[in-house]
Amino acid sequence: MTKKIALVTGGTGGIGTEVCKELCEQGNLVVASYVPIEQEVAENWQKVMLEKGYDVKIEACDVSCYDSSKQLIDTVKEKYGNIALLVNAAGITSDKTLRKMEKEQWKSVLSTNLDSIFNVTKHAIEHMLEGNFGRIVSISSVNGTKGQFGQTNYSAAKAGIYGFSKALAQEVARKGITVNTVSPGYIHTAMTDRLPREIQKSIVEQIPMGRMGEAKEIAKAIGFLCSEGAAYITGANLHVNGGMHMS
Ligand code: CAA
Repeated sequence: MTKKIALVTGGTGGIGTEVCKELCEQGNLVVASYVPIEQEVAENWQKVMLEKGYDVKIEACDVSCYDSSKQLIDTVKEKYGNIALLVNAAGITSDKTLRKMEKEQWKSVLSTNLDSIFNVTKHAIEHMLEGNFGRIVSISSVNGTKGQFGQTNYSAAKAGIYGFSKALAQEVARKGITVNTVSPGYIHTAMTDRLPREIQKSIVEQIPMGRMGEAKEIAKAIGFLCSEGAAYITGANLHVNGGMHMS
């Protein structure tokens, strides 16, 4: 059976890495995109993945840029074929209370976390329409649902992903394409590691399971939504947050 092509934006990141592994284990050909300035890091990442038995392809792309995103999708098609699975995992934080937040912090978070979803999906969807099959999973956040002190930019972007996904889910529901979101809670990654220790401690105190999540736990949820078995799930959001927020 020919392998399906899976594209994971931010694939070399904390959650992205586990998503790449999961989609490889499902038998897909996986392409991870990375920020162009991190080429060396990405190449090392690829080597380590290969040593662990995961043959992941890598492509540079600035997902906050429309043209760079189009180039990525065209390159994947040229080298490997039409994309069937898309996981939008690229994301950044730049936390500050609104009064202290610079315009650049707002713009960078909105363009990397939300414009990127438009930039990449807009082009990848054409591949899926050609094949009458597609799975799109975008990573939102518990903070897109509940809001978070110090994250007006991030919470707004992550909430925007819900609206985008539900609208697109309706547009392509008859074409064999599903569009869903996964909302991680606080997960052990470089992003949460950067938080001051006392803030990390107070966050964990708010989580009924009493611990942060693991990236693998997010990847499993995404893997399920990408599978054939999830064919009737679309426009849905799956919270994976240890009970931190229930909706
Ligand atoms: N609730 C209420 N008040 C709070 C607060 C909170 N959660 N956190 C801080 N405050 C208070 C401070 O004590 C301070 O009070 P005083 O003025 O009386 O001293 C006031 O609010 C303002 O604080 P700062 O001046 O320190 O604010 P700042 O603009 O410098 O920003 C911050 C501080 C960077 C936002 C810091 O509080 C912080 O890092 N918070 C955590 C944010 C967070 O959870 N980010 C998640 C990152 S991981 C992620 O995003 C992944 C995911 O999807 C879950």
